[in-house]
Amino acid sequence: MDYQATLPRPVHAAFTPFARPDPAGKEHLMYRSAVVSLPGVGLRCLEHPPERALRGPISLMDEQLSDDGAGQRLGAIWTRPRWRQSDRDRVRSHQLVPVGRAPELAEVERFLAPAPAGRALVLCGEPGIGKSTMWEAAVELARARGFAALCVRASEAEAHLSFAGLADLLEAAGPGVLAGLPAPQRHALEVAARRAEPAGPPPEPFAVSAGLLEALRLVAGRGPVLVAVDDEPWLDGASAAALVFAARRLTGHDVRYLVSRRAGRAAGLERVLEPSGVARVELGPLSFGAVSRLLAERLGRSLPRRVVRQLVETSHGNPLFAVELGRAVIERGLPEIGAGLPVPAVLGELFGARVRALRPEVRRALLAVALSAGLTEAELAAVVDRLAIEDAEASGVLVADGTRVRAAHPLLAAAAAGQSTAAERRELHLALGAAVDDSVLRARHRAMAASAPDARLASQVSVAAARAAAGGAVQDAAELAGHALRLTAAGGSEYDERLLALARYLIDAGEHARATRLLAERIGALPAGPVRAAAHLLLGEGADISIEEEHLARAIADSAAAPGLRAQALAKRAMLLAVNRARRIAEAQETAGEALAAAAPTDPDAERRALVALAWARILRGRGIDDLAARAAAVAPGTASPYNSSVDRPAGVRLAFRGELARAREVFRGLLTAAEQRGEARSGTAITTQLCEVELRAGHTLAAARALEEFDQWAALEPEAAGFRARLLAVLAAVRGDPGRATALAAEVLQASESTTSEWDRLEARRAAGLAALLARQPEQAITSLAEVWEHTRREGVEDPGAFPVAADLVEALAEAGRPGAAGEVIGRLGVLAAAQQHPWGLATVDRATAVVSLTDGYDEAAAARLARAAAAYQALGLDYDAARTLLFLGRAQRRFKKRAAARQSLEQARAAFEALGCPGWAQAAAAERDRVSGRRAAPAGGLTPGEQRAAELAAGGLSNKEVAAQLYLSVATVEAHLSRVYAKLGLRSRAQLARHLGGPA
Ligand SMILES: Nc1ncnc2c1ncn2[C@@H]1O[C@H](COP(=O)(O)OP(=O)(O)OP(=O)(O)O)[C@@H](O)[C@H]1O
Ligand SMILES: [Mg+2]
Repeated sequence: MDYQATLPRPVHAAFTPFARPDPAGKEHLMYRSAVVSLPGVGLRCLEHPPERALRGPISLMDEQLSDDGAGQRLGAIWTRPRWRQSDRDRVRSHQLVPVGRAPELAEVERFLAPAPAGRALVLCGEPGIGKSTMWEAAVELARARGFAALCVRASEAEAHLSFAGLADLLEAAGPGVLAGLPAPQRHALEVAARRAEPAGPPPEPFAVSAGLLEALRLVAGRGPVLVAVDDEPWLDGASAAALVFAARRLTGHDVRYLVSRRAGRAAGLERVLEPSGVARVELGPLSFGAVSRLLAERLGRSLPRRVVRQLVETSHGNPLFAVELGRAVIERGLPEIGAGLPVPAVLGELFGARVRALRPEVRRALLAVALSAGLTEAELAAVVDRLAIEDAEASGVLVADGTRVRAAHPLLAAAAAGQSTAAERRELHLALGAAVDDSVLRARHRAMAASAPDARLASQVSVAAARAAAGGAVQDAAELAGHALRLTAAGGSEYDERLLALARYLIDAGEHARATRLLAERIGALPAGPVRAAAHLLLGEGADISIEEEHLARAIADSAAAPGLRAQALAKRAMLLAVNRARRIAEAQETAGEALAAAAPTDPDAERRALVALAWARILRGRGIDDLAARAAAVAPGTASPYNSSVDRPAGVRLAFRGELARAREVFRGLLTAAEQRGEARSGTAITTQLCEVELRAGHTLAAARALEEFDQWAALEPEAAGFRARLLAVLAAVRGDPGRATALAAEVLQASESTTSEWDRLEARRAAGLAALLARQPEQAITSLAEVWEHTRREGVEDPGAFPVAADLVEALAEAGRPGAAGEVIGRLGVLAAAQQHPWGLATVDRATAVVSLTDGYDEAAAARLARAAAAYQALGLDYDAARTLLFLGRAQRRFKKRAAARQSLEQARAAFEALGCPGWAQAAAAERDRVSGRRAAPAGGLTPGEQRAAELAAGGLSNKEVAAQLYLSVATVEAHLSRVYAKLGLRSRAQLARHLGGPA
């Protein structure tokens, strides 16, 4: 009996997942076995071997197996859980935009545009690469664009169940559609979809296809239709034939087709649609950043950078593999540096079976490649028989890649390594150690082959570690240093030196915890002096600020006889004071000066760090650093990261302080490129933070949000950076004009612990809170926050007025609160600092603040002209937000003193500028003020801005906020802001009222 043919619907399937189930319910690909319960048939248990359960890689490895070959019959019983509507909703609510797929999504958008180039879009790629994920995102987008999406998730299980796909299509089309069909067609469809019992004579042969055609025409009569089939080759033949029949005849209607499939041969529907245009999107590997973000999201904890890198490499950017490998790492513990990843059982068995089937010499060739990345063909031939290499290539296990040889898939190599014995590996390492050309690799192989301390080898290996570090290969350096330490007899001075070297490389590789453990175990036994000083310096890295300060004090005390170390410790203390605490800037400058004096010219890293510390202290004091930059340019290149060894960063920050935004952007973009080239996350997070700040100063909130996104990609690798994020978000909310959000975010920063937020973060959070209060017209509250920042800068010697740029806002708040005397004091200090430093932002701000105070009491043309001048000066610098704020104030004053025409003009200019910048809250404030000019009420019916009008119409038409946002290319938050203003202006309370008001469907 054909088991499939009798399979009743619905099938209740329960699965025993290998891995923890994903909260979004998406990980249903991994099963050890499937238990299928069939109503009416009794309970049957079907145990499938993992190879069957993971159907993806089966066909990856065995491409010759055709989809419907007889060998797949048993596999066909295996089924995926059916997607109930509730599942879909849950997934959708968790569903994020797929990471790292911007170009592919752009392709989808083109396909969904009003006049697309073709009627079909095909997503193809290897198993697990993310086809279904993109397919879902495309369906979501289509729905947001007003398409009726009729979806089928084809599955191997249903490939042999006639009309399973058709049933899904009809269900998605809704009950009304069937009702609208002529009776014979309706009956044929209902029988096919197993909704009705067959009755009377059998339906005409084409009744089902004709019924589907008619049904699609009905749906298309209401608007554009997207027929979406995931895993099209699995679509049951009967449904596929009906769809092909309909697709051929559906001209003149806007029906489009979205299809996903594995790479390879096109299936029926795709071929039929070819003449009317088929676009294909080949889904390739995800980028490094995308995979690391995905891992951070899915695994719920962050992994060290090197492990993430290993995951990306081993998975070849395949998200399914990466997540599975990541889970295995979490379950079994982090691999040692240099060790392979644990291969999850299901992947391991799959690739393992392939490896086990190889003859021993071929397996040895694969193992050699697994043990030595980047092996050349000649090197491989020195350790294994040439014939074996040829065999391995012929059977597709090894691939020649130029002169190099690599495994066809990294997981194959991992399986080969997993199956080898320690003796086999040692023997091969020894042979490779004699065969490979590269000296670092040679040392590594020889170290891997040795098991007992060996003074000569240890010293060669530690030299190789230093060479690797000098080339920026910190992971390799850490691995080699680990071997060097293992091969060194304990107790000698060499041992401590090598231990310190290992700790250094571990820290550089982002492994603070391991470095700290290593050092903490040993430091008690170290005598006072330079070695202990070095250990304290290393222990301070990555520790909380107060602990770091303690270690630095001990390092300074221990390093009297070692000027290089002393210089480093002093430079760090200066950095902590200036940058983390933003305190005692004069003392920081002095300490940095001492560091520079102590730094020997033979130690370029120490000299650079001292220069950088001095640069930070100087810019906070409002002093120039050209001399320091010139000196830094003459220092030999060191090994330290640009994060703390480049004077360019403080130089760029100074430009931003001064409001010279174009030049600041240029500096940071250059630094970001350098960080990208090094793949160095610490610099990446720091520089994207600064780019975000530049955009926030400019008021370009979209660009700031984009910089934040980029920041997140880096921060996934650098969890300590999370502290910056909250303060950037707080300032972003304040600049956008969302006081509630800004205040809440600022409070979050101010309550966070010292280890995650620096004083700098706190000062910025206070500034954000003050700005929010100013927008909310709560001047006293604004003064509390802003004055605290201002007083801090005065007390601690932060003399660049643009460092924490609160002066203008504070003056405005003081003026509004009726305290011109206090405002005058602020302007007095600002004026002195700005004049002495010829500070562009400061000078414009003196004009603005002075005029603000004089316009509080009465109107004065000269003051108004001064404000206009300040606005122009800001604009010339690219400080568009400050310019718009100045115009807003000017307009307010003009309105108050009845200069109606001028007021309307200033306020409209301010509104338009805020709107263009992406500061909707401020634009709204300007618009409300403008509306008051002519004495009208602030909320006239119909007084909607074009943006509000569009959002209101779409919402009234029944779209969700998210869908409105997608349609208008806005964020959901902006749409919410628009709609809440619409409600306020029109005096409405619900969407239904809105729909009635605008005449849409209720
Ligand atoms: N761009 C992405 N962003 C986030 N997660 C992704 C992305 N691409 C894939 N994933 C995740 O990777 C896993 C595999 O993705 P998906 O099921 O879409 O692959 P597939 O190509 O459809 O696989 P198959 O060939 O088995 O059908 C899922 O857990 C999915 O959520
Ligand atoms: Mg899929």
